[in-house]
Amino acid sequence: MLVPVLAIGGLGVVAVMGVVAAFVITGWIGQPVPVLGFEQTFDQPIDFPHTVHASLKQLDRVAADGQTMEGLGLDCTFCHRTVTTQANAGVPPVGFCATCHQVIGAEDNVQLTILRDAADIVGDDGAEPVNWQRVHRLPDHVRFVHEPHIRYLTANPSEVKNTTDGVTEGPSGVCSTCHGNVAAMQQVEQVESLKMGQCVDCHRDNGAPTDCAACHY
Ligand code: HEC
Ligand code: HEC
Ligand code: HEC
Ligand code: HEC
Ligand code: HEC
Repeated sequence: MLVPVLAIGGLGVVAVMGVVAAFVITGWIGQPVPVLGFEQTFDQPIDFPHTVHASLKQLDRVAADGQTMEGLGLDCTFCHRTVTTQANAGVPPVGFCATCHQVIGAEDNVQLTILRDAADIVGDDGAEPVNWQRVHRLPDHVRFVHEPHIRYLTANPSEVKNTTDGVTEGPSGVCSTCHGNVAAMQQVEQVESLKMGQCVDCHRDNGAPTDCAACHY
């Protein structure tokens, strides 16, 4: 009788230790370690909702005037400006956000107050950059460039995986292949593994290079 109980108890301890160890490692090296799968999100300095800005649909929320809100439907490239030309997609500086939020959005909105303070519209401690936490990050020995992927997928919409609110065309329609439907995310999370197997499979299927040096320094 005692043996199976001990065995189960032992397993429980191992599982708990595993989770604790993963959290310690996460805190220690400051990198996302997949704890319960790879869907990990972070608390951002400002709760930035992709839904409100990028969705092409009705949102699950009500505006100040009592009407159901619709997403603004901004192109991904409106904010991630270098994604079609460079390695990095880029995240806009807070001054860019302020071009709208100097006037748009309630004065007492807590998140927008953090934004306006960072942009020095309110407060008197000067402008300061927002330290967005990275959600997707490959190890340092891997090379990734956005530009050829956006170019290829835009020219070959049939290779696009997932969709951006139903759209699979144009630069903003192809991001879903590796990032899922960000337009529907209140908070960005990683939904594709983006492990070497996924990269290499797609490269093989689409005539892209599969030699080690293509992706490794
Ligand atoms: C093209 C104009 C525009 C730009 C640029 C823009 N926003 Fe917004 N944002 C809006 C609108 C419109 C709303 C909805 C306002 C409302 O709820 O009344 C909004 C809402 C928000 C909210 C409040 C969400 C909530 O739940 O109440 C936050 C936070 C926010 N934006 C952050 C940002 C950040 C950070 C940036 C820059 C990366 C940015 N915005 C750029 C137009 C913009
Ligand atoms: C109004 C500006 C704005 C628009 C439009 C926008 N984004 Fe973003 N995006 C941001 C900001 C700010 C962050 C950093 C904060 C965060 O992670 O939520 C971000 C983060 C991300 C990330 C996570 C980056 C990381 O750290 O790994 C991805 C992926 C992303 N956006 C994809 C998209 C896609 C796809 C679209 C179009 C469907 C889009 N974004 C539209 C401003 C924008
Ligand atoms: C072929 C897969 C793939 C596609 C397609 C793709 N991304 Fe990414 N994205 C990645 C990977 C992998 C990373 C992490 C790169 C790293 O750590 O070096 C990343 C990182 C990011 C980041 C954070 C770092 C940065 O580059 O600024 C943003 C923002 C982002 N992507 C936005 C987008 C947007 C917007 C699109 C569509 C226009 C898009 N991505 C299309 C794979 C992809
Ligand atoms: C949707 C399929 C797909 C996925 C997923 C994908 N790639 Fe690619 N990748 C391509 C294609 C197609 C090209 C060649 C585009 C062109 O130049 O016509 C390419 C080109 C590249 C290049 C440039 C190679 C060169 O020397 O020209 C690098 C680097 C790269 N990919 C790395 C990665 C990494 C790392 C991942 C995984 C995180 C990844 N790719 C995921 C399809 C993909
Ligand atoms: C299309 C892009 C791509 C190609 C080609 C590629 N790799 Fe990778 N490799 C990756 C990515 C992305 C990672 C990091 C994610 C992961 O661990 O799977 C990685 C990780 C690795 C790792 C570390 C694994 C770990 O567990 O930490 C090794 C070792 C490696 N690659 C060796 C190779 C060798 C050898 C080749 C040539 C035969 C090669 N790779 C070709 C994309 C690629």
